[in-house]
Amino acid sequence: MINKIEDTRKNFDDDLVKVTNLADLEELRIKYLSRGQGLVSNLFGSLKDVKKDDKPKVGQALNQLKIYTQAKYDELKEKFETEVNSSKQIIDLTLPGRKREIGSKHILIQTLNEITDIFKGWGFSVYEGPELESDYYNFEALNFAPDHPARDMQDTFFITEKFLLRTHTSPVQVRVMTENKPPIRALMPGKVFRNEAISAKSYCLFHQVEGLVIDTDITFAELKGTLVAFAKLFYGQEVPYRFRASFFPFTEPSAEMDVWWQPKGKPGRWLEILGCGMVDPNVLINVDIDPEKYTGYAFGMGIERTAMRKYGIDDIRILFDNDKRFLTQF
Ligand code: PHE
Repeated sequence: MINKIEDTRKNFDDDLVKVTNLADLEELRIKYLSRGQGLVSNLFGSLKDVKKDDKPKVGQALNQLKIYTQAKYDELKEKFETEVNSSKQIIDLTLPGRKREIGSKHILIQTLNEITDIFKGWGFSVYEGPELESDYYNFEALNFAPDHPARDMQDTFFITEKFLLRTHTSPVQVRVMTENKPPIRALMPGKVFRNEAISAKSYCLFHQVEGLVIDTDITFAELKGTLVAFAKLFYGQEVPYRFRASFFPFTEPSAEMDVWWQPKGKPGRWLEILGCGMVDPNVLINVDIDPEKYTGYAFGMGIERTAMRKYGIDDIRILFDNDKRFLTQF
């Protein structure tokens, strides 16, 4: 019986090397492994004629043969099947080519570029700062006292007690003034974050462009003149605008600028586009600039609002949806 088992294994191995496809393999299976007529299966039938003492040994050899043949069969089957599957992925040269779409700049980036281009033309340099800021740059150096009520004006995403997602681009003013000596003409665009309820008017993330000018003899008149010139270039010569007195801890005096917004078919209204003011002497002291010698102005403009006004968009959320039907219009 042991010899028979050995012979069967040898025959199986001989047949195995001749198998080249799934059909051959199926023949091999029927010959050796099928129930009822398979050579290996049949050997189990002969087990009953083996002497009782030899049974464990013979049984073990037989089991090994069964496991061996089955494993070889499974292995080849898997190999042939994956070959069949991969050969199905033939290249069909008659198919039409895939159309490649050309991407475009997001409407916010386009708006931002238009704004920076105008200010670059006036000698401003562009700077960027980190979005994860420390309390020092975002509040303290900007003259917000630790218990200053203005700190509650902006609902802040705090990361730790000391670090937060910047709520405005004004901390970049502090960084620029710390690293550069006057005269300074800086433009600082970037993302800002506020923990506000999301609606058509406000989103937890938006973009600002900060402007900063520090030199001797900088006046509020120059600030106003610059912003009016900007509004005329950006929105058109005839754009109605106004300045309103306001408050920021880091500027004194402070103002906000509105432009008239007239959406098609809707009643017009004033839209606030920026906050601005003369840099507070306390801020200059914090960055070691002598307020007796230098004065300066700063402004911070919201990009989303600016873009919305220019393109007649009435829901801020659509700017962040990544909906191609919207994005491809620009
Ligand atoms: N940082 C202010 C804000 O986010 C805007 C501002 C910038 C005001 C610079 C004055 C000067 O509302």
